[in-house]
Parts: sequence; structure tokens; C-alpha cells
Amino acid sequence: MYNLLKGKRGIISGALDQHSIAWKIAELAHREGATFTLTNAPIALRMGAINELATACNTVVVPADATSIEDIENLYKKSEEQLGGKIDFLLHSIGMSPNVRKKKDYGDLNYEFMLKTMDISAISFHKMMQVGEKLNIFNDEASIVALTYIAAQRTFPDYSDMAQAKAMLESIARSYGYRLGVKQRIRVNTISQSPTATTAGTGVSGFDVFMDYADKMSPLGNATAEDCANYVISLFSDLTKKVTMQNLFHDGGFSASGITEALVEQFTKNK
Ligand SMILES: NC(=O)c1ccc[n+]([C@@H]2O[C@H](COP(=O)([O-])OP(=O)(O)OC[C@H]3O[C@@H](n4cnc5c(N)ncnc54)[C@H](O)[C@@H]3O)[C@@H](O)[C@H]2O)c1
Repeated sequence: MYNLLKGKRGIISGALDQHSIAWKIAELAHREGATFTLTNAPIALRMGAINELATACNTVVVPADATSIEDIENLYKKSEEQLGGKIDFLLHSIGMSPNVRKKKDYGDLNYEFMLKTMDISAISFHKMMQVGEKLNIFNDEASIVALTYIAAQRTFPDYSDMAQAKAMLESIARSYGYRLGVKQRIRVNTISQSPTATTAGTGVSGFDVFMDYADKMSPLGNATAEDCANYVISLFSDLTKKVTMQNLFHDGGFSASGITEALVEQFTKNK
């Protein structure tokens, strides 16, 4: 361990169970010396696993529906009390599409659901920054990270309206990154992560094949949740103070590969 986050305070959203990417990030942030609160939607807290994580990280869980301004205000107030000061890092690790969950075809989307997808998976990121700015919760030079997926740039049919949500999420990172950069030298980035076997990930149909394909299409293989945690910690640390408004691919090289020998081999075998 490097003590990269020694003395830093933060908020980590989206840890649902031990498979969650946010779970691994929280464990590593704790090991790297940070103090932080955990948050998730009240409904997710009923599953109870997040309390185990809170105990392991010597912290508390503040329930907040990320679409509710009131909940976010409460999250910031409680976090400031608990941590004894303003925050240096914020993780947005939140995604959900009712259309994907209800297996709606892309040509038969429910638009109420689609608005919910946008609100939960993208606009919530804006809300977290806007409420944070208004309450003056961020320290100068804080670092804000959200997790995204390459379906924002290229079509992956089963990803459905989550593709639009991720495109919006990445755009919000640029627009709010500009604003907070000028104002407080705060950086805002999205990390575009490989497919990862989590509750949200495996909710997309054909996920296993998809994950195998991505693995073979990436010279370094898929990035795991633990790999993602390492990358996020580097962005929360002081080693990346001039990185902002970026969508950073963390995918073993997938996004820059046309074809790989591993895939050719697989297709040749199947012939
Ligand atoms: N798993 C993958 O393949 C993959 C790949 C790239 C990016 N991502 C992104 O990583 C992030 C984390 O997902 P994960 O894969 O760890 O899955 P996960 O299911 O463990 O995490 C998603 C989290 O979103 C939370 N959430 C849903 N609605 C909410 C709301 N209204 N308010 C607050 N929280 C809410 C859930 O409770 C859950 O904790 C998501 O943004 C996801 O899109 C995942």
C-alpha cells in the first residue's frame, strides 16, 4: 500500500454487494488511508450487505436515492458531520435501466422507463455535483469520478437505453468538469470499464458471451473490478491533478483493437 489517500475524505456510492465495483473501490480507499461514507438507494440497503462493508471500512452508510435532491443534501450534511470536514473525492457508481430490467426491445421502449434510466444513470451525476457545489461540500482540488461503458460510443444492442444514459453521463463530466475546474481546480472524469460480472453487468442479456468476446478482443484481457479500483484510487490521489474532463478507457486495450489473434483463433475453431 502507498497511503495514496492519507488524510482524504470522500463519499462512495453504488456498493451493493461484494461483486460491485464500488465495493472494491471502498476496500482499497480504506487501505490507502482515506475516510469516507458509503451511500446507496434505500431499497438497496435492505439487502444488508453494505453494512458489512461499512464495518470493515470503519464508517457509516447514508441512504440516498441519487435522483432525489433532498436525499443528496442529506447525504452531504451527514457525511460532513461524520467525516469532520468537506470532501476530497466522490465516486458515482450508479446505473439502472427499467427497460433493460424488464427486457423491453429497443423498438418498444417505455418512455417513462427511459426517463428513469436517464435520471438514475446520468442526471444523478449532475445532481450530485450541483447540490455539492451549492452546499460548498467539495474541497479545492477534489476529484470526482463516474463509471461508464463504451456503449456510449459504439452500439452494443442489448445495452439498450443505457447507451444514451452513458453518453449523457460522459457529457456531464465534461461540462461540470469545466465549471468546477475553473472555480476550484476540481477534476471530473469518467472511467470506461471492461464488462465486469456484477449485478448491473449481468442484468444485460448475453452477458457471458459479451464478456468472453471483450476478453479476447483486449490484448491485456478484461479489466477486473479490482483493477478498476486501482485506477480510481490513482484518480482520487494527488498524482493526477491535471487530468480532467476525460473519458478514460480502462479496458485492457479493447477500445483500440480492430481484431486480435485470440478472436481469429476462436472463429477458426468454430468453422
Ligand atoms: N458491470 C459492468 O460490466 C460495467 C461496465 C462498465 C461500467 N459499469 C458501471 O459501473 C457502475 C457500477 O455498477 P456495477 O457493475 O458495480 O453494478 P452494481 O449493480 O453492483 O452497482 C450499481 C449500483 O447502482 C445503485 N443504484 C441503482 N439505482 C440507484 C438510485 N436511484 N440511487 C442510488 N443508487 C442506485 C445500485 O443499488 C447498485 O449499488 C454503473 O454505473 C455501471 O453502469 C459497469
